[in-house]
Amino acid sequence: MLLHPFSPTSAVNEFLPVPSDDSLSRRAQWSAGQPISYLMHMALARPSLISLAAGFVDQHSLPLEPTRKALDAIFGDPVAARAALQYGTTHGYHHLREQIVDRLLAADGGRPGSIAVEQVVLTAGSNELLHVVCDSLLDPDDIVLVGAPNYFVFLGMLANLGARSVGVASDQRGLVPEALDEALRTLAARGELSRVKAVYVASYFDNPRSITLAAERRPALVEIVRRWSKDHTIYILEDTAYRELRYAGQDVPSIRSFDESGETVVCTGTFSKSFSPGVRVGWGVLPKPLAQAVLNQKGNIDFGSPNFSQHLISKVLELGLLEPHVASIQKTYREKLSAMLGACDEHLAPLGVRYQRPSGGLYVWAEMPDEIDTGTDGELFQRAMEAGVLYVPGSYCYPSEGTPTPLNTMRLSFGVQSPENIRRGIKLLADAIRSELGAAKLTT
Ligand SMILES: Cc1ncc(COP(=O)(O)O)c(C=O)c1O
Repeated sequence: MLLHPFSPTSAVNEFLPVPSDDSLSRRAQWSAGQPISYLMHMALARPSLISLAAGFVDQHSLPLEPTRKALDAIFGDPVAARAALQYGTTHGYHHLREQIVDRLLAADGGRPGSIAVEQVVLTAGSNELLHVVCDSLLDPDDIVLVGAPNYFVFLGMLANLGARSVGVASDQRGLVPEALDEALRTLAARGELSRVKAVYVASYFDNPRSITLAAERRPALVEIVRRWSKDHTIYILEDTAYRELRYAGQDVPSIRSFDESGETVVCTGTFSKSFSPGVRVGWGVLPKPLAQAVLNQKGNIDFGSPNFSQHLISKVLELGLLEPHVASIQKTYREKLSAMLGACDEHLAPLGVRYQRPSGGLYVWAEMPDEIDTGTDGELFQRAMEAGVLYVPGSYCYPSEGTPTPLNTMRLSFGVQSPENIRRGIKLLADAIRSELGAAKLTT
């Protein structure tokens, strides 16, 4: 049995037994023990739990009316309706790809024509785009550099491909360029530069800390990665999943916009957060040679992601229905974030818990006093579940090497629960932390 190092806790493995059948592929064996399935199961199995774990979007503000209007428009034209109900292409619906190019250039202040429609690939969510890109770039033992902490589903995906995720320091302003340079220098000195295929950066309100990469670091990352692309291209995988979920301050241009030659940055985005994850349309703008390789790969897997979803999103954009929806969800999330921070100030700060105050995204990242272990094997996780609240242990969000994994952190999501439940959940969590601190004191 080959077990990949990304196997977060034995509790997870107890719940999701590692396949013992030796006929399974190595990749199937490496895929065991993903925290996402475990946490989703816990939330579903105990509906009374207040889950501050799930990264789902707000249920009540899902776009019923805009979706209905877009569907009516599609079905009002039988030719358009039949086109939407047919298979699409591997690349994805051409008109939506044009719309995505226009929107990205408008958001980045980019020169018309600087992105070719052929560079855009549509997928079933940006996760699929990240997966097909990684599958096209990575052989087992290849390396992706990632800020630590980071999006645990992406880390799991790397583990599933047999790749190594190597951590790089990330502070309040995102991935630290000097730390990236240093990590590349160290890997080069060890003769491992040829293994480094990409640097993954969620550049807006990342997951799990809701940190946005500082504007001045964006061109710096492109410069560093290009400088180290000596014998082969090292790509930056820029993930803009939360770009639209900004509740204060001004948008900043993407990392991609600083990639003048268009050879370095793969930029992905999604309509899951800004519109609907059930529709699940994601996209990627890829450097031209990589786009072809990814299309070859995707052609073998699904020869096109759901065409109907792509037509629906295209119609939503055409009818101008996305912007008002984004404005309305920004208001909803602003209120939820404020409820969470207010409750953290009231209940967690007095216990010595430190947390970030983000201005976008769906998460608050919290650091417990040092003696608390937030993992599923630790006491706090069980106490919190008994009290009726679920969180994501922060240790899930750390790469397998390169940076230390603190055990006292957690990700709290404010996307799903009502402001009232958020306040209640944080109070219950504070009660659990208080008992845990009391128990820790008794044993010392
Ligand atoms: C940072 C980040 N990237 C990508 C995704 C994937 O979203 P989707 O596949 O629905 O587009 C998520 C989902 O939570 C995320 O947090």
